[in-house]
Amino acid sequence: MSAHSPGPIISPSILAADFTRLGEEVEAVANADWIHVDIMDGHFVPNLSFGPDITATVDGITSQTLDVHLMIEDPEKWVETYAKAGADCIIFHVEAVADKDAAIALARKIRDLGVRAGFSIKPGTPIEPWLDALEHFDEVLVMSVEPGFGGQSFMPDQLDKVRTLRAAIDERGLNVLIEIDGGISAETIRSAAEAGCDAFVAGSAIYKQADKAAAVEELRRLATL
Ligand code: DX5
Ligand code: ZN
Repeated sequence: MSAHSPGPIISPSILAADFTRLGEEVEAVANADWIHVDIMDGHFVPNLSFGPDITATVDGITSQTLDVHLMIEDPEKWVETYAKAGADCIIFHVEAVADKDAAIALARKIRDLGVRAGFSIKPGTPIEPWLDALEHFDEVLVMSVEPGFGGQSFMPDQLDKVRTLRAAIDERGLNVLIEIDGGISAETIRSAAEAGCDAFVAGSAIYKQADKAAAVEELRRLATL
């Protein structure tokens, strides 16, 4: 846990919500810190979700921080649209940009839009080459499943990446949050907290429960060290 964070940040992923009742599903997690919005384009990942209109709709019904996870090709073309749709943090994949310079330029563009900038990293991508770019970002989203679908099993080996990030961020006194996404549940969240995560995305572990607010509380309790 980093000094700037008063406690674990829980970010329910609306990808697992019942879309016929999206408004109620967002209200059901009013006690969560953030709302995680998974954008998939059917190209960068083999699945399609929703886009800027749904993002703007969610923004219109809650004042919670919108954590927008772009699993799309050409993220450069879309950041302005998602900033206008109400994103508070825009996270793009390092695998979707040409190189580190392009990633840094895109982070600057996101920050210039008044939005926090994050990068996400797939399980097979090493973190080491990205460590010297950390100061250009506000957040790193470590994928603990292959991006594309909810309800997959947590990959515990990705916690090494979290530990590496935690050490680099603390050593350099950086103000960068570490968030983890994929397979986070009552069984896995504590190991992620212990590895050094500040923020936790959970889809199925919240939305498949009858009492979603209680699931958020339980995850927060388990992630509090
Ligand atoms: C996966 C998405 C995740 C997903 C998590 O590509 O980025 O945010 O919704 O779902 P669970 O918590 O069910 O693994
Ligand atoms: Zn996500």
